[in-house]
Amino acid sequence: MNTIPSIILATLTMACGGESTPPAAPAAPAAKAEATPLKPWRDALTESDILKYGERVFMAKGSNTCNDCHGKDGTKGRLEQAANLTMPATWRSSKALGGDRAKVDHALSFLVSNGGKKFNQDYVKANPDAGWDWAKSDAKAYDIQMFGVTQSSTMAALKKIRKDLKKTGIELPKADLTAFGAQSVLSYVRSIESAAK
Ligand code: HEC
Repeated sequence: MNTIPSIILATLTMACGGESTPPAAPAAPAAKAEATPLKPWRDALTESDILKYGERVFMAKGSNTCNDCHGKDGTKGRLEQAANLTMPATWRSSKALGGDRAKVDHALSFLVSNGGKKFNQDYVKANPDAGWDWAKSDAKAYDIQMFGVTQSSTMAALKKIRKDLKKTGIELPKADLTAFGAQSVLSYVRSIESAAK
């Protein structure tokens, strides 16, 4: 009963056998791969955007946030010894640096990024030319309860901002969260200070 032509037999064997060539890799999803790249936050955000995000950082919910220690209006928060943020002339940095605004901003950026403890240990050592003079500030160090953006509730708010920015096509790398937090929140602090005048 040899009725099946040999050419058909050969085809059947190839189709069922394990030796056939593997299926070609699926074509790359061209349209998706060409999504617009995210814009870097430093280029994409205006000063007023930064200020708006700074308010969110300042108002972060939870304990050990700026508003928790300093108060929602920058004054009369949980810690009596926390600086009055509406009165920059009373700040240690203003005194230690003779009120030089650019120098104060440089020091505050370090303080808010790292907290008082690290500031006391490192700032003057790392910035010998910054002009910082503790003797002028009526103290030898910052109260180490000044935490800046380093605590978890504030970092959680920053991570949320990072996600929201991504949705609008803006990239805020994880490595920039602290720098973004310090820059934006200081811009907000400067705005409450001028509003209070
Ligand atoms: C756990 C409490 C705490 C948190 C959180 C905190 N601070 Fe402070 N902050 C303090 C205390 C206390 C001082 C006063 C330190 C001193 O004078 O020795 C201070 C001082 C300051 C000063 C004045 C610095 C100077 O030169 O005198 C600024 C500005 C400031 N904080 C901003 C912030 C901002 C912005 C945040 C949020 C990112 C924040 N702080 C979070 C407790 C806190």
